[in-house]
Amino acid sequence: MKLVRILIQPFGALRSQCFRELSTQAPRPFKDVPGLAALPIIGSWHRFLPILASVGMQANFFKILSAMRKKYGPIVKWEGFGGRGTMVICFNPKDFDQVYRAEETNPLRPGFVSLEYFREVLHKEKFQGVYGLTTAQGDQWRDFRTKVNPALLKIKMVQLYAPGLEEIAEDSIARLLKMTPKEISQDFYEEATKWSLESVALIALGSRIGCLENNPADHPSQQLIYCARKALDLPFILELMPTLWKDKTKTALFKKILDIYDLQWKVSEEFIDQTKKRIKERGHDIPEEDQSILEKLLAIDEKVAVMMANEMLMAGIDTVAFSLTGILYQLAMNPGAQDKVREEIRQGKSARYLKACLKESLRLAPVVSANLRVTSKDHVVGGYLIPKGVSLVAPNEILSKSEEHYPRATEFLPERWIVEKSDPLYHGNTHPMVTLPFGFGVRSCIGRRIAELELEVFVKKLLDKVRVSWSGPPIQVTTRVMNTYKKPFSFKFEPVN
Ligand code: HEM
Repeated sequence: MKLVRILIQPFGALRSQCFRELSTQAPRPFKDVPGLAALPIIGSWHRFLPILASVGMQANFFKILSAMRKKYGPIVKWEGFGGRGTMVICFNPKDFDQVYRAEETNPLRPGFVSLEYFREVLHKEKFQGVYGLTTAQGDQWRDFRTKVNPALLKIKMVQLYAPGLEEIAEDSIARLLKMTPKEISQDFYEEATKWSLESVALIALGSRIGCLENNPADHPSQQLIYCARKALDLPFILELMPTLWKDKTKTALFKKILDIYDLQWKVSEEFIDQTKKRIKERGHDIPEEDQSILEKLLAIDEKVAVMMANEMLMAGIDTVAFSLTGILYQLAMNPGAQDKVREEIRQGKSARYLKACLKESLRLAPVVSANLRVTSKDHVVGGYLIPKGVSLVAPNEILSKSEEHYPRATEFLPERWIVEKSDPLYHGNTHPMVTLPFGFGVRSCIGRRIAELELEVFVKKLLDKVRVSWSGPPIQVTTRVMNTYKKPFSFKFEPVN
């Protein structure tokens, strides 16, 4: 017990500061980075108990990292995190800025081991080296990303989908207005995922897939929503939580995860095949602006096209539904900002204030709490030598909500994104790496423009006709891989003149 206590002795911020000063001479060895060391099999979770005890067992990732910062200082090591090697958390944006920029030539961000196994081992023959953005690394990732970047990231191209998204938003709002308060409280998030899938499917496939009808649980669209959720939740439990299984591939949970990936692939493949058939029947000879992402990519590389459409139907559901819930919550809690957005919409102005609201709500409630890169070489960070192969974490959510980086940091103040430089609120006074809701650099979110457009279109359509309010205790966030909101959803949607 004494030994355990010695091992978890806190290295305070002061001591870390001393190391940083020494670092101008010679970097300290990696073993000296303060934090949680690991034991075989159970990793470092046992050492983690004192931290959990102080923040509570229901703590989310944000609270856990905050507690670690307080205990260990600006740079913290967490060995054996879920059996996935060593993680280093840098609380100084200059530190991770330096590493992320140095890694831009080959940014490594590992996906789930189970998904890698599914694509790269189990179905190696089928995928033939085209493994998708979420799992591929190195040249395979770069080749894929280079092919898909223009179709997904060119703002002008993405804007062309706006009319279709407007129709979807209208249908979705009509459904929301028919829901009872009890249904809203329990099912709001489900509705949000139906809207986000219908929207991303329109862009990926060029047609509606029927999410906004009253479907049974085995309807293909419902199956995609189910699979996307399980494909986040189950690998989190298998791959990141402590386990006594040495070989996790032998577990029933691993088998279940593979079944989920199988089902998701099968259902999305059916939708993709229907689209291909439609394209074949009507011919390719239509203007580029009328083509779905799938159609545009089919002209470049069929395997890449199919995998990208599949990833869109997986990664574009909960991310956008969470962000929609977040911005509606903030606008409900800040009626002044809501009125300003409504005025902007009705006067037909550009969506400057609405965009600022979206940035601000993603600052306060990002989909992912932190960003990550695995080092491909040695770095000197905060005075320590950080070797190759370490997961370097940027805890953006914590930093984004800290007074150290933003004045009135926990308040929803969209103005900070639009005020003049001379205003103390001006966002440019903050280090640009502090708030990164879509990640960083060449490996940042490929769906960013699509997500922003979907959210903008929905909020515009909603606020023009509807007042949003919230009449309950503050919304609660829980973290798996992504942040998610807990029920109940105390939204009220009322028609407004
Ligand atoms: C508001 C909604 C969204 C947020 C906040 C978000 C956030 C992120 C973040 C933080 C990353 C990691 C970036 C990095 O490591 O630097 C990422 C990657 C990714 N996102 Fe999104 N995302 C959203 C919506 C979407 C949508 C709609 C799609 C699909 C159309 C999508 C597809 C992807 C893919 C495929 C990657 C991997 C990119 C790569 O490694 O090259 N995301 N996203």
